[in-house]
Amino acid sequence: MTRVDVLLGLQWGDEGKGKIVDELAPNYDIVARFQGGGNAGHTIEFDGKKFVLHLIPSGIFYPHVTNFIGNGVVFDLIAFHKECKDLMTHGFSLNDILRRIVISGKAHITFPTHLHLDAVSEKFLGAKKIGSTKKGITPTYTDKIARRGIRIAELHSPQFMQKFDALTQEHIRIFRSYWTEEEFDEYIQHSDRKTEMLELFAAIDFVKQFTFVDEYWLNEQLLYASKKVLAEGAQGTKLDIEFGDYPFVTSSHTTISGVLSGLAIPASAIGEVIGVFKAYGTRVGMGPFPTEFGGKESDIWCATQSREIELSEYPNASPNDANDFIKGIALRTAGFEFGATTGRLRRCGRLDLPQLKFACMINGVTKLVMTKADVLSIFDTVDICTDYRYDGMVTKQIPFGNDVQIEPIYQTFPGWNVELGATTLPDELKSYSDFIEYTLGIPMFLVSTGPDRTQTIKL
Ligand code: GDP
Ligand code: IMO
Ligand code: MG
Repeated sequence: MTRVDVLLGLQWGDEGKGKIVDELAPNYDIVARFQGGGNAGHTIEFDGKKFVLHLIPSGIFYPHVTNFIGNGVVFDLIAFHKECKDLMTHGFSLNDILRRIVISGKAHITFPTHLHLDAVSEKFLGAKKIGSTKKGITPTYTDKIARRGIRIAELHSPQFMQKFDALTQEHIRIFRSYWTEEEFDEYIQHSDRKTEMLELFAAIDFVKQFTFVDEYWLNEQLLYASKKVLAEGAQGTKLDIEFGDYPFVTSSHTTISGVLSGLAIPASAIGEVIGVFKAYGTRVGMGPFPTEFGGKESDIWCATQSREIELSEYPNASPNDANDFIKGIALRTAGFEFGATTGRLRRCGRLDLPQLKFACMINGVTKLVMTKADVLSIFDTVDICTDYRYDGMVTKQIPFGNDVQIEPIYQTFPGWNVELGATTLPDELKSYSDFIEYTLGIPMFLVSTGPDRTQTIKL
């Protein structure tokens, strides 16, 4: 049996997974998504073009690669249709797409009402909201766990319309629990249900043309066809439903455990576990972020402001400002830290090694990739959080609970105020990456130095 290598985000998502999957895809026959859905935004840049993929795996740009959407994914029909149409405006034929993408018939479907429910529940939570991407992720996984969800293969079933009607009725019952009769009527009048239904049924017709497979397919590729598979994680370890900062998490297993259930493969099939991390930290949405530049001030600012307002209020934020909040703005601008799916401001902070160590432990990471090393070159000096001070003690372990007061302890490194070349790291960046490698005890094999395909250094 050949092995499945796994690539995972080690922080709060947006580590640059899409770029690295695209970099590694030439070595694989199959790239497989195992969890998440339209909440993911994976950016790939080459030949002056930029693509953001949400549901389609990041191996799509190589003709020899089959892109598998596993049973653990929640599959938004309309979003997928749009994504395919977008590729078709960039030279893909329908045949290319049908040939390069294979879908598990057991992936659960995200319908438009799932997106509405996501938005309504966030609104209802008010100040306690999670900051979801509003892509219907939690409602779809809720229906899956509640055993009333609808799966892709059922699109071909004569009972599909009946099940769809029953699920819609259930969603209406939930809407009514949030709202008064007047609010519900107002919602019905304002949502363009007719357009939505036209889009949905066009998407259904489109998706029905794809090959739907079951659990045997990937296992047979491994057992009898010696296919090399790369599993592409979405989100990051600290957004995992089990190991993330619950409840400020997504509703899937973003970590290694999600690979087995989300692709239907045995534990013995796992090969290398590639952990991708950004040279600093970012988080979009609510929840703890101990090393955030500007702490609470940044948290509130990013939750309430837009990129336009930030640029007009802080046009000249300096990375070497004495004020951490301003440093964070400078880093966001330099790293273009705006959500690939929602456009929101990503909160920015220093690299958190205890958190990375936890992520490597939980996932059993065997190889590391560091991305966005170029972005940190704006700073004269760069800090890494090595420990936390908590309850009078110094510890490398993340204490339980989101409200605990921990103070990060930093070690300062000299900056590398130079443009990064294509083959070697400047000495200062080498010291920075050596320290991370040494502390985590895991070899780093790639350092990404820019968003483009050409900007990756092999170590
Ligand atoms: P993903 O969700 O993990 O795939 O990451 P995203 O695509 O959401 O966010 C990563 C962003 O950083 C994208 O805009 C990428 O084009 C960009 N990016 C990836 N690697 C690098 C890098 O090494 N340097 C810079 N400057 N940008 C990068
Ligand atoms: P990629 O794959 C960054 C965050 C949201 C929110 C929380 C729950 O591009 O790394 P959800 O919509 O899943 O219910 O939102 O998780 N989130 C992400 N943050 N990158 C992502 O994906 C994310 N997917 C979800 O901002 O805080
Ligand atoms: Mg992303």
